[in-house]
Amino acid sequence: MAGLGPRLEAELIARASTVISWLALSSVAGALSFGCGDSASEGGDQGPREPEIAASGEQVLAGKDLFMRHCAHCHGGSGEGGDAPRLVDLDRGALPLEPPADARLRTDEFRTAADVVQFASINMPIDAPGSLSLDEYYAVVAFLLDENGITSESVLDTDSAAELEIPR
Ligand code: HEC
Repeated sequence: MAGLGPRLEAELIARASTVISWLALSSVAGALSFGCGDSASEGGDQGPREPEIAASGEQVLAGKDLFMRHCAHCHGGSGEGGDAPRLVDLDRGALPLEPPADARLRTDEFRTAADVVQFASINMPIDAPGSLSLDEYYAVVAFLLDENGITSESVLDTDSAAELEIPR
């Protein structure tokens, strides 16, 4: 009997270390499968292009609604201008690169869509500046770009707006 003690102890130690190495292995496996899950969802984000097109169409539609409610009474129902500058039809001077000579608020160039978003989100609507959410300003500008024939397959956001140059 005296010999059983140490042998049992040895066996317990052996089992314990098996359990420990199993735990270590399974946590490695867990980490690996976690990693896999991650990259799978990243793939999903970059994913198929179709939903993006649908989303950008939705953004333009939402922008149209916002434009009609918050901008059209000064800029015209088709962005043709009135008391406020024309915003649609680049050939007829909409969204000029340089601020118009008589501009009171505009000081910066409209080189990219981001420049327009920035100006509009700070100054427009003149009767309630900054009253829309940033998402709403992106949507209104996406609508205006679309009306100007500048179409994009991706949703207008910080990144895409900075890259989207207004054709001159
Ligand atoms: C109460 C009238 C009014 C409303 C409402 C209004 N605007 Fe304006 N907007 C103006 C005026 C006036 C200017 C000229 C500002 C200046 O002198 O720099 C202007 C200028 C602009 C410009 C620059 C045009 C250019 O050629 O320099 C953009 C872009 C613009 N508005 C977008 C919008 C958007 C988008 C909305 C709705 C969210 C909106 N505005 C609502 C009166 C208005």
